[in-house]
Amino acid sequence: MREVFRRLSPDAPYFPDQLVSIQSGPDSMIRHVWQTGAVCLVKDAPGPIRILEVGSWAGHSVLTWAEALGKFERHGTILCVDPWGRYLAAEELKAATGAYRAMDAATDLDLIYGLFLHNIRFADKQARIDHIRGRFDEVAPYLADAQFDIVYIDGSHYYEDVTHDILAAKRLVRDGGIVCGDDLEHQLADVDAAFVRANIAKDYAVDPKGRGMHPGVTLAVAEAFGRVADYSGFWIMRREGDAFREVPLHQAQVFIPSHLREQDKHAVYAWMKQSGLFG
Ligand SMILES: C[S@@+](CC[C@H](N)C(=O)[O-])C[C@H]1O[C@@H](n2cnc3c(N)ncnc32)[C@H](O)[C@@H]1O
Repeated sequence: MREVFRRLSPDAPYFPDQLVSIQSGPDSMIRHVWQTGAVCLVKDAPGPIRILEVGSWAGHSVLTWAEALGKFERHGTILCVDPWGRYLAAEELKAATGAYRAMDAATDLDLIYGLFLHNIRFADKQARIDHIRGRFDEVAPYLADAQFDIVYIDGSHYYEDVTHDILAAKRLVRDGGIVCGDDLEHQLADVDAAFVRANIAKDYAVDPKGRGMHPGVTLAVAEAFGRVADYSGFWIMRREGDAFREVPLHQAQVFIPSHLREQDKHAVYAWMKQSGLFG
């Protein structure tokens, strides 16, 4: 399969819409910029920077981590853990349509795994990318404590999985390191907690006020940390001893990753200008 993608796109990473290979909409592309800020926060760590990514799909976010290592002139490793298999639980899959159906089809013939392997070939050479194929709850027990500078959680959105993934991340991150994740559209304190709890078996849900969210992420993050630092749905906490504290990510140096689509780069740039957060 990797050979097919090589022929389709020999000189560049490839993110076809048909495989929902870019996982978030244009409004969420700013989260890649926040990823680069997270790397900036650990750029002075001794030794090679170690990043763990839980949930990689076609490799879009991995390319951002890798480019950030290059930009900050640091060598590092990125370990990607993902089963590259069925995405939704069987119950939800029955009723799934649109992007979810397409994602399910993308796992047939190992298409998405092949695309990931193709895309990481174009990662910045400052980064060595390793991967383990499996669910994080199966893989985490084999990983040693306090070894990562950044643990990024973007795997399953189901409450029990996110709860596990955060707990494991807390163990795996070194003192002073970062635990962060994607898809926190709303924090628990800002929405109806009863609605969130009633929907934790769904990947995504829209509340009666029309607010879309990943209920499992909202609840698990709140239970693990309380309120977190939240940048456009990218949440981030720094380990300080046994505690985890909010991080002023808007003070970090950031950039727009080169592999974003041109239209997304423009949208992100416009958002950054209008936000007033950046110099
Ligand atoms: C939202 S996608 C990741 C998108 C990717 N980080 C990006 O931005 O391009 C979620 C990924 O998590 C993976 N996944 C699902 N359950 C998982 C689990 N228990 N452990 C690790 N990965 C999981 C899925 O296979 C899928 O590739």
